[in-house]
Amino acid sequence: MKCIEIRNKYLNFFKKNNHVVIPSAPVIPENDPSVLFTTAGMQPLVPYLLGQKHPSGTRLTDYQKCIRTNDIDEVGDNRHLTYFEMLGNWSLGDYFKEESIAMSYEFLTKELQIPNEKLSVTCFAGDNDCERDNVSFECWKKAGIPEERIYFFGKEDNWWIAGEEGPCGPDTEIFYDTGKPKCSPNCNPSCNCGKYVEIWNNVFMEFYKDKNGYTKLKQQNVDTGLGLERMAMLLQKKETPFEIEIFAPVMQKLEEYQVQDIIESRRIVAEHLRSSVMIINDGGRPSNVDRGYILRRLLRRMTRHMNKLEIDLNKLAEIIDVSIDALKELYPELEKNRETIKKVIIEEKDKFIKTLKNGEREFEKVANKTINGGKDTIETQAVFNLYETYGFPPEMTEELAQEKGIKVDMKDYQKLFEEHQAKSRIGSENKFKGGLASTGEIETKYHTATHLLNAALKKVLGDHVHQKGSNITAERMRFDFSHNAKMTDEEKQKVEDLVNEYIKQDIKVEKLEMKKEDALKLGAEAMFLDKYGDEVTVYKIGDISLEFCGGPHVEHTGELGTFKIKKEEASSSGVRRIKAILL
Ligand code: SER
Repeated sequence: MKCIEIRNKYLNFFKKNNHVVIPSAPVIPENDPSVLFTTAGMQPLVPYLLGQKHPSGTRLTDYQKCIRTNDIDEVGDNRHLTYFEMLGNWSLGDYFKEESIAMSYEFLTKELQIPNEKLSVTCFAGDNDCERDNVSFECWKKAGIPEERIYFFGKEDNWWIAGEEGPCGPDTEIFYDTGKPKCSPNCNPSCNCGKYVEIWNNVFMEFYKDKNGYTKLKQQNVDTGLGLERMAMLLQKKETPFEIEIFAPVMQKLEEYQVQDIIESRRIVAEHLRSSVMIINDGGRPSNVDRGYILRRLLRRMTRHMNKLEIDLNKLAEIIDVSIDALKELYPELEKNRETIKKVIIEEKDKFIKTLKNGEREFEKVANKTINGGKDTIETQAVFNLYETYGFPPEMTEELAQEKGIKVDMKDYQKLFEEHQAKSRIGSENKFKGGLASTGEIETKYHTATHLLNAALKKVLGDHVHQKGSNITAERMRFDFSHNAKMTDEEKQKVEDLVNEYIKQDIKVEKLEMKKEDALKLGAEAMFLDKYGDEVTVYKIGDISLEFCGGPHVEHTGELGTFKIKKEEASSSGVRRIKAILL
């Protein structure tokens, strides 16, 4: 069964079961600067899982374009992908475990015709935070899965949360038995040997986790996710996703043009190309930061592996065409963007080729220094710099070094690389926390400034302005808001003046506790209404601003000093970003 047929069957099945089909969100989250990419179908639905009413009702289904790059270095093996499509269905406080499990079972065995014997499932074993999921166990038995194929595991296997904080809960995972022999007598679905492949994850989201622990959400949700490519691979009886129709033509083309036969490199090229196509299609462009950097990394790695295969890089345009052709049945919008996608990829490839040339010159210097210094091994830091600054892969440095009769200590390099990665991971985790990660005195001032800025923007630009995100450090504030056009210099000046006027008036900042409905009646602003329970905290700044907010804030606006807009720019479609400082 082809991907498109599986997707259509899935959406139709859930439609038949009274779900409304909603469109896929872009892989680049629309109004959420705090995450790099959409990583799961539930991500755009978080406000609704938390209780906000979804305009399409309480039963939803969709296909979601997802990017997950944590395992980027694993791509090339027989299963890892950085882009994948997730089919999902949701109950927003509607049905719960019983119906969810019954529908999943029916879909797999009736619509996809997977024999019962092929299926095993896992349930949550229970701990101090949440009881053992005997309900799911009973539901599976009722559906027809025998007890010996129902397993219980702890949080590491059967609990789902996106990141550190957010809606979460126990899950029940469905596995497909490939028929391979057990790797040991204890081999079970939690084992990575390849016998069992996870095909569907049904999360029973009834908790919210924050740094203080777990609390119950006000509704019981279901969030499920089924990986499309993996399902297609199993149904088509293929060993890897690279053999299904969305990759096979690209793999074939690469084989046709390659001089060296390296299967991992072919997979990396095909996979990274597809992810890049999808990111660019949704508006992403290569750069040195955040999303753009990930795209750059994907494209560079792709180019490097084309070099390894010794494929003529002038063939790239044709290879992109083959990839788009293989994908356009699933994503017809690619056709419209075909030329742009090709242009972006080829320009980036050309840039990288230049970088590599510069790298070669730098390598010569480093090699000469090593040889002249009487050493036989290039200093690891220099190998790392070649990679960091010139995008010069260590394997290549090693290869060139060998030609000169010197070495690279790859083990040492790996150590340095991992240290660096750990550091940058911590950096990006902090970044993803976004918002008010730390609240010292200066951050508190910036926090109050966001409320004043929000109010001033509404006054100058109109009531369509709403906050879409914010990020504060001790050095500056960043504020994202809904607005369709670039602000004129005059508008920026007006907003700046207005905020400074509010500061000068030294208005009292009041913290009020009230019922949510009363706050709404008073017209309080909220970014994610559902984040709040029935009793809420609202900050009032004279008659200028009234916002749902946990604080902290300064006591009087006069404490802020002078407000200055440093930059106004596009953040994403329909969202502008202001960077500002307090002097
Ligand atoms: N959110 C869950 C996952 O990503 C189920 O959709 O696996």
